[in-house]
Parts: sequence; structure tokens; C-alpha cells
Amino acid sequence: MTSMPPTGHTSTPAAPTVDPTWAELYEEIADCPRCILARTRTQSVPGVGPSTADIMFIGEAPGAREDERGIPFVGASGQFLDELLASIGLSRDTVYIANVVKCRPPGNRDPEPTEIEACAPYLDRQIAQVNPKIIVTLGRFSMARWFPGQSISRIHGEPKREGGRVIVPMFHPAAALHRGDLRSVIHADFARLPAFIAEAGIGASE
Ligand code: URA
Repeated sequence: MTSMPPTGHTSTPAAPTVDPTWAELYEEIADCPRCILARTRTQSVPGVGPSTADIMFIGEAPGAREDERGIPFVGASGQFLDELLASIGLSRDTVYIANVVKCRPPGNRDPEPTEIEACAPYLDRQIAQVNPKIIVTLGRFSMARWFPGQSISRIHGEPKREGGRVIVPMFHPAAALHRGDLRSVIHADFARLPAFIAEAGIGASE
């Protein structure tokens, strides 16, 4: 694959801008042999966005569209994520988006614990490089890293403050594609983000 996926600002990204600070890590992820997902991927999907972002969104794993494009959240759940971002005045250009697992699990099955573990050092490095003030976990796999043993139905939208950072667990956008009643719940959780953004002292333009 190409060494660096582009950044984009809609779920059908147009002209990419590239943040060169990601080159080394993205090249490593592109050639990663650490788990069996390397055998079935079209390409890995490292992440997208500036290393200077104040807000980081962490999903689960690439799906079919992401595997084709090398960019996270460009399928149906990505369209909903774009809508959610827009609803609070954010765009993809200003946030960083990654997944717990960088390669598509075949048939969109859940990632295995061994795959999550094999991929964890990449996410660690992304978090260290971005050093975001706010992390939004999308779905239970990224939630589990900060809220082990918790249920997303119980804690969605309720932040935790840790190491000078706000961690906000949210439902995965795909959940609303299967359960329409969750759409308004996810919108309501996103509507709480501007208060956390203000609390973190992030500029009004973000
Ligand atoms: N679901 C995810 O968790 N990540 C993606 O990139 C796409 C769908």
C-alpha cells in the first residue's frame, strides 16, 4: 500500500493533506506482520488527522470500505461520525481518528484479544504523539482500555479524567445503524462534548 493514508474531511474524502510526522509509524503499520489479520487485509488503516489534534476518536477496527481505502471511518458508520462531528461544529480536519486494530477482521468479526494486544503498541504511539486533551472511545473495544469491565449502555457519555485528559466513552456509530433508537442517544452524548472541549481549554475554532 501507499506509505501514508491521506487526511480527508468527509466520509468520501477529497484532496488529501498529509501530516509528515506520521510517516515512520504509518510505514511500520503498513508492513505489520504481528497478527493473522495481516494475511487477509487489502491494506492496513493506521489513522487519519493531524498529530497536533486536541481530540482523538478511537474506534474498533476497519471494515470493508476502510480496508479498500486505507482511511478509517469512510463507510456507513463514518458518514454518521461525520454527521455527529458536524453537529457540534467539528470536522475531520481538526481531530485525529484511529482504531484499536489497524487491519480488517474478516467478515467484520470482532477483533480477538490477541489481535488487540498485538496492535496496542501502535495505538500507544498514536496517543503519545497526538497527546490529545480529549479521547472519545467509540464502542466497547476502545472503551475497555480505559473502562475495563464496564458496560457501554451504563457509562456512555460519562467522562473520566485521567492524567490531565478527559476520556469520554461513546457508543460506536455503527450501533445506530442497527438500532435506530440509539441515534438520538449518540447525538445527545456528542452534544456533551463542547462542554468538555471548553473545560480542556481547547480553542473555539476546534
Ligand atoms: N468501524 C470502526 O470501528 N472503524 C472504522 O474505521 C470503520 C468502522
